[in-house]
Amino acid sequence: MPKVAVIGAGTMGHGIAELFAIAGYEVALVDVAEDYLKRALQNVEWSLKKLAEKGQIKEDPSVVLSRVKPIVNDVCKAVEGAELMVEAVVEDIEVKRRVFAEADRCAPPEAILATNTSSLPITEISEAVRPERRSKVVGMHFFNPPVLMPLVEVIKGAYTSDETVKKIVEYASKLGKQTVIVNKDVPGFIVNRILARVNDAACWMVARKEATVQEVDSALMYKAGLPMGAFILLDYTGIDVACFIGDAMSKRGFKTHPCPLIVEKCQQKKFGVKTGEGFYKYPAPGKFQWP
Ligand code: NAI
Repeated sequence: MPKVAVIGAGTMGHGIAELFAIAGYEVALVDVAEDYLKRALQNVEWSLKKLAEKGQIKEDPSVVLSRVKPIVNDVCKAVEGAELMVEAVVEDIEVKRRVFAEADRCAPPEAILATNTSSLPITEISEAVRPERRSKVVGMHFFNPPVLMPLVEVIKGAYTSDETVKKIVEYASKLGKQTVIVNKDVPGFIVNRILARVNDAACWMVARKEATVQEVDSALMYKAGLPMGAFILLDYTGIDVACFIGDAMSKRGFKTHPCPLIVEKCQQKKFGVKTGEGFYKYPAPGKFQWP
């Protein structure tokens, strides 16, 4: 069975692992603690059952789930024999670079090392691996939730080869995804660069009391046609993740005007769905329900 490694089993990592397992890959799923992996497997199981109920997977959920192998804190073991790694750890360049350096030591020479980063430069991440591997480092940016969102951005860093981009497009297609190739490794790539402006405008309107959170979200959904308004999407993404992304982009020259409401939520640790409260309240931490 072909093998992939997914590093980081949080909001994104567990969904990416699920997609590869559905497509028939053996998936080594890594996180720093057993509890996080247990929660990730429960989330995958819940999601697989939903897909089975809707007739969207052919196999029994337990068979698909059995292809996901949890591994505590051992990137090296996870990438052994893997043809692809997708890294989905916290949006921190140093943590990501450490994961890439370790994967480079242990993965087969032909393995591709991809990152699901939302905003960090692929080129800076590539420089954590040996020069001979850099052509195989690439951005493979899924959207939340990976199982449902159709797009994957494929981002080329300064060293990424066309062959690597082509292979990632092929993997994405096997997972049933559409791809957009991002040729310029700019902060936020395409989607998050545009969304950052939408979020800024939405947040400042509320901060200046020109509209409420609910009014802005309704306007974006019922006129602009977005599936989620800006604030509900921030809650869904994780406001902590949005703060990391904002910091990473502004450090690299993308001018933003940090909106006080988002900064406050981060300071209060009201991160959205994952903590049970952000701009809206949810029934329990991790339980999404339309407000
Ligand atoms: P998260 O905070 O839910 O999950 C990150 C996981 O990585 C945590 O479980 C953490 O324990 C684990 N981790 C941290 N250091 C690690 C290490 N050294 N080895 C193994 N695991 C480690 O974050 P989320 O939202 O899943 O984001 C992950 C990546 O995906 C980030 O780069 C983020 O920018 C990106 N992303 C997030 C999206 C979202 O909507 N949340 C959408 C698309 C991309």
